[in-house]
Amino acid sequence: MSKTVRVAVTGAAGQVAYSMLARLASGEVFGPDVKVRLQLLEITPALGALEGVAMELDDCGFATLDGVDVSDDPLKAFDGVNWALLVGAAPRKQGMERKDLLGLNGKIFVGQGQALARRAASDVRVLIVGNPCNTNCLVAYKNGKDIPHDRWSAMTRLDHNRAVSALAKKAGVPNGAVSNVTIWGNHSNTQFPDFTNAKIGGKPATESITDRAWLEATFVPAVQTRGAAVIKARGLSSALSAANGAIDHVKTWLAGTAAGDWTSSAVISKGEYGVPAGLVFGYPCTTTNGSPWQVVEGLKHDAFGKERLKITLTELLEEQDAVKELLPS
Ligand code: NAD
Ligand code: LMR
Repeated sequence: MSKTVRVAVTGAAGQVAYSMLARLASGEVFGPDVKVRLQLLEITPALGALEGVAMELDDCGFATLDGVDVSDDPLKAFDGVNWALLVGAAPRKQGMERKDLLGLNGKIFVGQGQALARRAASDVRVLIVGNPCNTNCLVAYKNGKDIPHDRWSAMTRLDHNRAVSALAKKAGVPNGAVSNVTIWGNHSNTQFPDFTNAKIGGKPATESITDRAWLEATFVPAVQTRGAAVIKARGLSSALSAANGAIDHVKTWLAGTAAGDWTSSAVISKGEYGVPAGLVFGYPCTTTNGSPWQVVEGLKHDAFGKERLKITLTELLEEQDAVKELLPS
């Protein structure tokens, strides 16, 4: 084993990280020939719990784990990192929307964006998971401006996986038969899980699922509000599926999207689909061998889709306005 990849995970004593760390360390993500050094960040009061997580990682005895560093200092945790998975932020509770967390969580991403720009490796790739993740990513990249725009992303992969699963169930096919799903816009209840461009068995999903009323009035709201449904059922927000979404995001970024297919990621818009450049917007994205995400252009939207895109864009612009004090001019 010659190569070592340095991976920062923030909020590392929290529940999403707990479902993620062993998978990062095990070789599943970076492969059996790459060593992983985990650089874990927490707030000071959680350092004791984080030491316990580090002990458990040691106790897994992974051949691929180079070591675990714990810190409450972003400058240390981000030192030389090739990957930064920013999970650390408060989760919402029942009855809240994710944007209600902006006041509490947005400011975390000022210092972390700056610290990443100062300390991360020149090839760093960043995924924001902490909510509201699109706008937290906006705050982070604006404050970490030495890092090229194409390295930043926010997580819509969990919504994407939810949409795949819901379409597969309805059509009575395996999840693997569903492709070309997109989560447009915000990781919030305004997102547009796009069934109009999705495929089942390589053909338009609307040929397998002909009940348009179900697609519009059941599927779309179910995906939009799935996070809240999990909170209601579990009493806690999603963790296992959230960690899985983050792992899938990194694995796809490394391995590339399948030919003819794409995945969902929120990225810094260059103005695609009429979105103002600079906003962190969920798009259909492809990538090859670790290259930056490429937004798939030229997809068409019908009247229903156009309306949904407008709604989610409006919300993201409102969120941007709500954090304007956190954005350097
Ligand atoms: P959690 O409360 O279990 O863990 C969060 C951890 O972050 C805590 O241990 C806390 O001490 C730590 N933290 C808080 N501020 C920090 C800071 N400044 N630096 C480093 N660590 C800090 O919450 P969770 O269930 O693990 O969720 C974490 C975040 O991920 C939440 O904001 C949640 O809403 C979000 N989330 C997003 C998605 C998505 O699809 N984008 C999915 C699930 C969860
Ligand atoms: C999710 O989608 O499950 C997460 O964003 C957590 C939440 O607040 O819903």
